[in-house]
Amino acid sequence: MRTLTVDLAERSYPIHIGSWMTEAPELLAASIAGSQVLVVSNETIAPLYLAKLTALLPAELMVNELVLPDGERYKNYETLNRIYDNLLENSHNRTTTLIALGGGVIGDMCGFAAATYQRGVNFIQVPTTLLAQVDSSVGGKTAVNHPLGKNMIGAFHQPKAVLIDVSTLQTLPPREFACGLAEVIKYGLIADPVFYKWLEENLDGLLAGDVEKISYAIDRSCHNKADIVAQDEKEAGVRAWLNLGHTFGHAIEAFQHYRHWLHGEAVAAGMVIAGELSRRLGYIDEADCGRICSLLSRAGLPTKAPGDMTVDDFMQRMKVDKKNRNGQLRLILLQSLGQALISDDAPPEEIAAAITACQ
Ligand code: NAD
Ligand code: GLY
Repeated sequence: MRTLTVDLAERSYPIHIGSWMTEAPELLAASIAGSQVLVVSNETIAPLYLAKLTALLPAELMVNELVLPDGERYKNYETLNRIYDNLLENSHNRTTTLIALGGGVIGDMCGFAAATYQRGVNFIQVPTTLLAQVDSSVGGKTAVNHPLGKNMIGAFHQPKAVLIDVSTLQTLPPREFACGLAEVIKYGLIADPVFYKWLEENLDGLLAGDVEKISYAIDRSCHNKADIVAQDEKEAGVRAWLNLGHTFGHAIEAFQHYRHWLHGEAVAAGMVIAGELSRRLGYIDEADCGRICSLLSRAGLPTKAPGDMTVDDFMQRMKVDKKNRNGQLRLILLQSLGQALISDDAPPEEIAAAITACQ
């Protein structure tokens, strides 16, 4: 087991990484303060892990379970309301603890329910996708989607603990694993050149399911994320780096109505466009762009934008990005391979040229 800390003064919390369900099951009870628990999961994950998790809860706790439908399209107010319904029907009070057992969809939605139920209750993240283990379970961003925009209704609400059991990845479909790798690669690109090189040398091991290597990649990713979140919890500055490729990626997801490419796939293509724009603006060179494309492609991720999207399709959707201020597009670019920068003044013609070059 490895343990990291997200350092946020009185709201600090641990991230435990390992096969904790079998090797350190006491970590779950140690993270619960009150006598009531609601475990929230979905129809895919519950048959695999719900009984295993609830068996680890002390017998004296009142435990309710809620199994939601699976999918990004259910990350909305209606499904969120089912969490509130369950809490109220079972008389959960302010000392209750919500446990999010699942990927980023369950984690974000359960976290938002915890942020708002009776003005805020405790919650624990038990992430089961690679993407959730390296990104969404850490840092306290919680949300549901609105018909007019992804993650538009949400709150910052930090969990009490993040309990990562790497063995849950054994049942994760390879396409979902690759999406998590997109976010892992992102950490190397924005802040950790040594880790980027390690990824280039060890990607085959990660794809082959080498548990030691996967645990190390999760550890290093969480370390990078925890460090950035500790500096800038509410995204006034450096936390925006975590959005490398996301502005272009969200445009792709929105264009496709969240139906075709997965989030990590859209982010991968977005990172290629961000790299190309960084090259055009003189920050990185062609060899760096080649290294980005090569690693993403080896991970099984797209390195080209969808051919049926015009520059205008991108621009229209990028206008509503949460990072924008006063109508100004804010992009995360690369100063070098392993060092991000925030750009508020990339010329529109260069953005357009970068998109076109990546199609
Ligand atoms: P997801 O939660 O939809 O999970 C992907 C699929 O894998 C689902 O079908 C799920 O049921 C299945 N699954 C999960 N764990 C499994 C396992 N161990 N075995 C078999 N199947 C399993 O998607 P995701 O990629 O985990 O998360 C994407 C969501 O996370 C998006 O809604 C995105 O907005 C959000 N997100 C949030 C943050 C944040 O900081 N809060 C960061 C990144 C992404
Ligand atoms: N995934 C972006 C963030 O947590 O800020």
